[in-house]
Amino acid sequence: MRFVVTTAPGLEGLLAEELGELGAAPLETAPGAAIFEGEWSAAARVLVRSRIASRVLVSIRRFSARSEAILYDQTRRIPWDEYLRPGLTIAVFTHGSTGGAGTTGYPIHFAALKIKDALCDEMRKRTGARPDVDRARPDVRIEALFAGRRAELSIDLTGEPLHRRGWRLAGGEAPLRENRAAALVRLAAPSEGRLFADPFCGSGTIAIEAALVATRRAPGLGRPVSSFACATLFPDSRAALEAELASAAGEVLPTPLFAVRATDLAAEAIADARANAARAGVADAIDFAVGDARECELPGAVIATNPPYGERLANLADATALLSAFTRQLKHHAKGARLALVVPEGPLEKSVGLKPKRKLGFANGPIPSRMLVFELY
Ligand SMILES: C[S@@+](CC[C@H](N)C(=O)[O-])C[C@H]1O[C@@H](n2cnc3c(N)ncnc32)[C@H](O)[C@@H]1O
Repeated sequence: MRFVVTTAPGLEGLLAEELGELGAAPLETAPGAAIFEGEWSAAARVLVRSRIASRVLVSIRRFSARSEAILYDQTRRIPWDEYLRPGLTIAVFTHGSTGGAGTTGYPIHFAALKIKDALCDEMRKRTGARPDVDRARPDVRIEALFAGRRAELSIDLTGEPLHRRGWRLAGGEAPLRENRAAALVRLAAPSEGRLFADPFCGSGTIAIEAALVATRRAPGLGRPVSSFACATLFPDSRAALEAELASAAGEVLPTPLFAVRATDLAAEAIADARANAARAGVADAIDFAVGDARECELPGAVIATNPPYGERLANLADATALLSAFTRQLKHHAKGARLALVVPEGPLEKSVGLKPKRKLGFANGPIPSRMLVFELY
């Protein structure tokens, strides 16, 4: 089978690296996606263990969709009644680009409607009933990936997206999505015995992701099998998921490979982060404290953080002054440390005053952002 794994656009390189480690090395990547071939066992491994993926989909048809009529016709050729039972609700989502004039001639949002119409017409022909559409909580989520004329239709195996790890009740200000925090942790490359720290920890997302790595706890461990869409849609996947969850449960380390320290100026943020870490099963692996990042002492540490960035939290001038005070502090009190930052593209990036060793652009929701890595010699 051919599986499509999605993530935030820009993170596909890190996702591909992770998939390789999970024995699901991708054949190709596209913006926000990586594709691999394998059995249900490989899909279950990615669903339970990937820290960077958002969703895992099974590809059901690839074709050249050079006109609306061809898109409709190709979609009708799919034996939809093999995938959908009558009574299940559906929704179609599109990604990528159908190209400009001279490529397909139709816009991407139009493609979703065409696919939905073809699917419903074919289901009515085969079963006598058209499925209802529920975009908020569909039983079956169909995803179409376009690259110019090339279209690939897939069915979601995930259900609730993987970044919802199930521990977040307390949101805090501008929390980073869990799979983006996990990508930052991967870039920061924590290692055994070396302190990991987030001095602007907010609701604790980055520290929790680091603690999951430190204790080898799979991010999907707490999730019931029935919550994965594939357990209902593809009964063969159920045994693979059960086996994967059982083996992941046996791998959790009682003692973390490295210590994790999480601090924030706001006492409420620390209270929220503590409660979140407890629900994530890593409360004992993180040392939480109230503290000012401008006064931190972190020699030799691996630091991964997402400082306030002006747009939603304070104004840009304040955010710039805070970030430069923080990095000045690190230059003197964090010698030999590595720093991985999430910042929006633009002036804030410059206020770090150091030359990054690595730079990665990604979509942080609607905000074009960067992950930057610095070595503090
Ligand atoms: C963008 S948020 C971090 C969000 C976090 N990554 C999460 O996922 O929840 C920035 C955080 O920096 C904290 N903060 C602001 N000034 C600070 C300072 N001088 N020292 C430490 N924390 C500070 C804020 O309280 C806020 O929680």
